[in-house]
Amino acid sequence: MIIAIDGPAASGKGTIARQIAAVYGLHHLDTGLLYRAVAKAVLDAGHSPDDAQRATEAAVMLDPSKFEDNALKLQVITEAASVVAAIPQVRQALINYQREFATKPPGAVLDGRDIGTVIAPGADVKLFVVASPEVRAARRVRELRARGEVVEEADVLADLLRRDERDSRRTSAPLKAAPDAHLLDTTHLGIDAAFRAAVDIIEAVRAGRKRR
Ligand code: C5P
Repeated sequence: MIIAIDGPAASGKGTIARQIAAVYGLHHLDTGLLYRAVAKAVLDAGHSPDDAQRATEAAVMLDPSKFEDNALKLQVITEAASVVAAIPQVRQALINYQREFATKPPGAVLDGRDIGTVIAPGADVKLFVVASPEVRAARRVRELRARGEVVEEADVLADLLRRDERDSRRTSAPLKAAPDAHLLDTTHLGIDAAFRAAVDIIEAVRAGRKRR
């Protein structure tokens, strides 16, 4: 079983994806880490994230063992990740790894922006997770402060909106719901309620498939 979970930043998709993978016994890939790792490699080497050639080289050379790096979640990497993610050759270089991951037995949950549309268009279940920008910014602030970063809520909201805009407007694999994705709005849902809502959707899709 392949489950595709897409949505904008801090919508709750990552937390839902992790919990769903644990409950269904599936592998989990946070695909944002791939773009973050590329961005970090480019910045560490002293180059600009919009340098398409350097970013593509970094994507081709990417070492998946770096995915657990805590530094990948820093705000400076977050911003640069959405810049490298808009470069078509960078996306192209990361497709095979994601597709191979998705087909690893017994199946996988992948979360990102283009899983249901580009990486796994044939996924068994597709969720598109959204929440209001204000709620997403508040969540992100809590997360960053817990990690010791000093941030202002207004700045985080502005960063988030700029990133949404960049992710949605790029020509290569923009952030958008697949036509067959199920919308899950977590604006008024806590972590547990959001997880239960996701399970309900998955179970309804599976039951529908069995009946046919
Ligand atoms: O999900 P996360 O916030 O970690 O992603 C960081 C950035 O990576 C996003 O803003 C987006 O630009 C990019 N990304 C993407 N496609 C994905 C996952 C992430 O373009 N599947």
